[in-house]
Amino acid sequence: MTTTSTPLDKWEMHPRHFWLRGIRPEAPVEYDPEVGMWHVYGYPETLEILGDPATYSSEVAARYVSPEQAAVAFDGNLTQADPPEHQKLRKLVGRTFTLKMVAELESRIAALTHELLDRIEGDTFDLAEALAYPLPVIVICDMLGIPREDRELLKEWADQSLMASTQLTTHQGDKAQEESLDTQAEAAMAMGFYILELVTQRRAEPQDDLLSRLVEAEVDGERLTDRQIVNFANLLISAGHITTTMLLGNTILCLDAFPDVDRRVREDRSLVPTLLEESLRYLSPLAAGYRVTTRDVEIGGVRIPEGDVLEVWFSAANRDARVFADPDVFDPARTPNPQIGFGRGIHFCLGAPLARLEGRVAMNILFDRFPKLRVDPDDRPTFLTSPEFTGVWRLPIRVD
Ligand code: HEM
Repeated sequence: MTTTSTPLDKWEMHPRHFWLRGIRPEAPVEYDPEVGMWHVYGYPETLEILGDPATYSSEVAARYVSPEQAAVAFDGNLTQADPPEHQKLRKLVGRTFTLKMVAELESRIAALTHELLDRIEGDTFDLAEALAYPLPVIVICDMLGIPREDRELLKEWADQSLMASTQLTTHQGDKAQEESLDTQAEAAMAMGFYILELVTQRRAEPQDDLLSRLVEAEVDGERLTDRQIVNFANLLISAGHITTTMLLGNTILCLDAFPDVDRRVREDRSLVPTLLEESLRYLSPLAAGYRVTTRDVEIGGVRIPEGDVLEVWFSAANRDARVFADPDVFDPARTPNPQIGFGRGIHFCLGAPLARLEGRVAMNILFDRFPKLRVDPDDRPTFLTSPEFTGVWRLPIRVD
C-alpha cells in the first residue's frame, strides 16, 4: 500500500499532535510542565495503565471541582468512576444497552441515513451537517426516548460544552480553564434538568425506551438514582453525539487523501468494517483520556508520584511502531489491528457496537449513492479545536 499525501498534510489538523505526522515520541511517557501532567504516548504503557484501574484512577475531573459539585456532576458518569462503583454502574446500564438492542437498529439506521441524504440539494454540501452530525444524535435520542422537537435544545447544550472544551492543565488559577469548565458545567446542568423531567415522567409512566429501562434496571436489589440516570444519559448524549460524527468525517478525509484506498474499498465492500477500524487507529476521534495515580509508580522508564495526572493518548499509542507495522500507512485491510480508539479494559467504550454499526451502514450507503465523493477543494473543512478530539466540525463535500 502506498501513500502520497495524508489528510494531515492536506489540512492543518492539530499541529501539536506530532505522532499524526509520522514523528516518533522521544519517550513513551514524558512530563509536560506547561500543563502540569504526564503525556503517555506508548501502546504497551497505555495498556498497562488502562488495565490497572487501582493504580491509575479515572476519578480525575473531581479534582477540578468541589466535592459537592463532583457528587452532583459525576455520580453515574461511568468514565469518572473506579471499581467497585464502576462495576456496579456498568452492570446496571449494561442491562439496558445490550448488543441485541443495538443490532436491531440496523434497518432504522439505514432508513435514517437515506432520509437525511435525500434532503441534500446540489452537488456541494457539508457532510457533517447533513449526515455525520444528525445521524448519531437522532439514533441516541430515539433510543433514550427524547422527543424529536427537543433535539435542537440538546444540540445547543452539547455544542456549548464541546466548543468550550480545551486542553486540561493541573495549574491552579488557569483562567481559560476555569471559564471552560464553568461553561461545560452550565451546559451539563441545563441538560441535566431537562433529562430529570423526562426521568420523573418515566417513573410515573414507563415507555418502551432506554430512559424507562434505566429507571427500572436492578442488580442485586439496587437501582440507579435519578442523579445517576441523569448523568449517565448526559454521557450517552455527549458521547453518542460527536464521536461517531468524527469517525464518519475522519473516514471520508482518509478516503479523500488516499484515492487508491477509496477505489479498493468501493470494489470490495467486505473491507468496510476493517476500513473503519483503520480509521479509528489512524485518526482516533477520542484522542486522549485522563487518569490519576493512586500511588508512586514507575512506567515507561520514569517515576511518577502519587496524585499526578496522566494524559493517555490513545491516538499516539495507535501509531506505535512497536505494535503496528508501518504505522503511518493507511491500510484498510490491516490485520491484526488491535487499535485502541475505543479504549481498553473496564472502561472500554460501551457504545462501540453502536458506533461500528452506524459507521458501517452510513459508509455503505454513501458508497452506493455517491460514486465520487471528495472533500470540496474550494472550501476547507474545519476541525474541532480541543486537543482531546480528532475530528471535523464542518466537512464540505463535492459530488461530481
Ligand atoms: C468510553 C471512544 C462512541 C458511550 C469510551 C472510551 C473511548 C471511547 C476511548 C474510553 C475512555 C477511557 O477509558 O477513558 C469512542 C469512539 C466512538 C464512541 C471513538 C465512536 C467512534 C460511543 C457511543 C456511545 C459511547 C456511540 C453511546 C451511545 C461510551 C460510554 C463510555 C465510553 C458510556 C464509558 C464506558 C466506561 O467508562 O465504562 N468511548 N466512543 N461511545 N463510550 Fe465511547
